[in-house]
Amino acid sequence: MRVIILEDAEAVAQRALSFFDRMLRQKPDAVLGLATGSTPLRLYEKLSEGCQAGDLRFSDVTTFNLDEYIGLPAGHSQSYRQFMQKHLFQHIDIDPGRTHLPDVANLSFDRGESSLRCEDWQARGAAYDQMIHAAGGIDLQLLGLGRDGHIGFNEPGSSLASRTRIKALTRQTRADNSHFFASIEQVPRLSITMGIGSILQARQCLLMATGAHKSPAVTAMIEGPVTARVPASALQMHPAAVVILDQEAASGLQHRDDYQDAETLQQALESLDH
Ligand code: GLP
Repeated sequence: MRVIILEDAEAVAQRALSFFDRMLRQKPDAVLGLATGSTPLRLYEKLSEGCQAGDLRFSDVTTFNLDEYIGLPAGHSQSYRQFMQKHLFQHIDIDPGRTHLPDVANLSFDRGESSLRCEDWQARGAAYDQMIHAAGGIDLQLLGLGRDGHIGFNEPGSSLASRTRIKALTRQTRADNSHFFASIEQVPRLSITMGIGSILQARQCLLMATGAHKSPAVTAMIEGPVTARVPASALQMHPAAVVILDQEAASGLQHRDDYQDAETLQQALESLDH
């Protein structure tokens, strides 16, 4: 795992931008995995600015988002489809037909009942994994980090081999995400999320985390054991995982000097290519 520690959230976004910039120059028809939440917002602004300035092109790019809430009315402002539209898609030259989120149409429990059978619910996740596979797999997967160590909506206890499927949100995650809603009661209880096994199939994973409130999860993810209790720790098993942190998120790490030394070497090696 490559750990990059920078001064602040602005520097984290700028560095994350450089990974997208490099990917899009190497492969203009890249398949990008995208995330929601507050953390990537500044990156999305920078991607939008880069596109508007003519430095970045998305016209041949395909995207797959990590997850989507179940149970919000179509077009709800807090659906992740609307979030992506508002913060990225409407500002860049991407073909809307190439932007994908898990399909949650008709998935809802009305008084505990659903018009769909259990197997129809389960088929949605498998269909999403199949679409990613058919697109050639994800080249660069962006990730945020939940305070409880979740990635996507893979809450603690999720199988490290899981595929895209329906997951219940924990109370903590619903509370954490409630600032996007009028009240916690309005935060959905269910989601479809790429599984941890699905995420690990991306060719490169790029996780951003900022702020002191993420520090315990960051430390557990990087320096703790690989465990389903900390879903993000599965990234230790990924051959090309990069974690970009600000000083606050990195504040609990014990081996900061080692990460810095490794990063200095990495940058020296990369400069040989220029
Ligand atoms: C949600 C999303 C995750 C995201 C997390 C962190 O739970 N499903 O993909 O990483 O929030 O959000 P934030 O960046 O707002 O801290």
